[in-house]
Amino acid sequence: MSELTNVSVIGAGTMGSGIAHVFALGGYDVNLVDSSKDSLEKALSSIKNNLGKQVKKETITAEESDNSLARIRFETNIGSVDNSQLVIEAVYEKKEVKEKILKELDSLCPRETVLATNTSSISISELALVTNRSDKVIGMHFFNPVPVMQLVEIIKGRSTSGETFLFIKSVVERLGKIPVEVNDSPGFISNRLLMPMINEAVFALMENVSSAEDIDQVMKLGMKHPMGPLALADFIGLDVCLNIMEVLQEGFNNDKYSPCPLLQKKVAAGELGRKTGVGFYDYS
Ligand code: 3HC
Repeated sequence: MSELTNVSVIGAGTMGSGIAHVFALGGYDVNLVDSSKDSLEKALSSIKNNLGKQVKKETITAEESDNSLARIRFETNIGSVDNSQLVIEAVYEKKEVKEKILKELDSLCPRETVLATNTSSISISELALVTNRSDKVIGMHFFNPVPVMQLVEIIKGRSTSGETFLFIKSVVERLGKIPVEVNDSPGFISNRLLMPMINEAVFALMENVSSAEDIDQVMKLGMKHPMGPLALADFIGLDVCLNIMEVLQEGFNNDKYSPCPLLQKKVAAGELGRKTGVGFYDYS
């Protein structure tokens, strides 16, 4: 496999900009692609701000921050991916949306380019079917905030080659992150464990077992989680949590993963957590 120098990231939302940030800091040239100019502008300001936090903490120097920012190209044209050896899609978590992008990437990229997806729960084997390179399609699941969280789940689809897996594993390690190897299964490991916990916390709130603050306090102080499950749901986005519960329910064909009606109600009302200013807590 050719040496990695240039990485494209598709989707300049929270995850895409976090992924662009860590690759640029790792010394790679990054091509961050989004069809929306507005999203690219927001990504630039969030990456600047997050690099600034690291400078303030003295984990990186101001020069490293400037050099990293200079390594990122902000692009609206997806055709710009053709000189990347690795392309990571981090677009909206809907199977049809990801399939459309992967199909397009497959037609634009040279045969040897690895196509990774930052999907949080959708089957890698199924996503790979829309391409003509299923041996080079792999899951690369980062965690929010990407510059802070150490873990990357690497998910092998049915046809992902050993060579592709070892390539991605070494890339993750070179970024200073810790990889775990996971076989393709709904929600992988992270969201198969995390989302039912969040969903159960929402049931406890709906059934008035305790207040949101106290439910969160139990997991923070009793289990030493950095955030309680309801605050974490607001941080992740309630629409994302609901999507993942639906993937688990459908993928395992088991109603133990039924999304809590309160979670469905909040998403229908547009109360998606921090990004809309209200979720289980009010951020306005
Ligand atoms: N970029 C760079 N640095 C950042 C940052 C960012 N985006 N956000 C926070 N930081 C740094 C801060 O500078 C700070 O550094 P310091 O402690 O050395 O000064 C440190 O991270 C902690 O930040 P804060 O002091 O601002 O705030 P907290 O101490 O409250 O920590 C948190 C914030 C890191 C988000 C912490 O609450 C946490 O770890 N929460 C859990 C997050 C989590 O579970 N993420 C996974 C979500 S699931 C997911 O992403 C998968 C998907 O599929 C759903």
